[in-house]
Amino acid sequence: MERTFAIIKPDAVERRLAGQILARIEKAGFTVRGMRLQHLSQAEAEGFYAVHRSRPFFGELTAFMSSGPCVLLALEADGAIKKWRDTMGATDPAKADAGTLRKDFGESIGRNATHGSDAPETAAFELGYFFRGMELL
Ligand code: CMP
Repeated sequence: MERTFAIIKPDAVERRLAGQILARIEKAGFTVRGMRLQHLSQAEAEGFYAVHRSRPFFGELTAFMSSGPCVLLALEADGAIKKWRDTMGATDPAKADAGTLRKDFGESIGRNATHGSDAPETAAFELGYFFRGMELL
């Protein structure tokens, strides 16, 4: 079993899509091991996305991610990291396959409904950034 870190982003929470996305997560076979609703500060978003600090969209990304509450999730499944990325679809909803979360719920490359770790090292960093050991069941 593998764990990955996921976010239901502020655009999806604001549009009251969190329940539908959680239902899709469970239907896809993930076990939720940690979950919290949190309104990130700009500094918390900047720390989380530090690898993107030099990208031109960094300011836009961190302002958006701190614009409203999001749902932070620890998800478990066999091959959870790839499985969650496949469930989300491509970063840009316009390029995402039919049936993926970003195709169905994303509005743009920035407002793309969900986030997921892209590798084991990233998953370890991201899970540890937001969850203490006692919060993961
Ligand atoms: P996410 O998986 O959360 O990881 C980094 C995020 O940066 C990505 O999803 C996108 O939402 C966002 N992103 C990537 N490229 C762009 C872009 N060109 N403009 C705005 N946001 C972007």
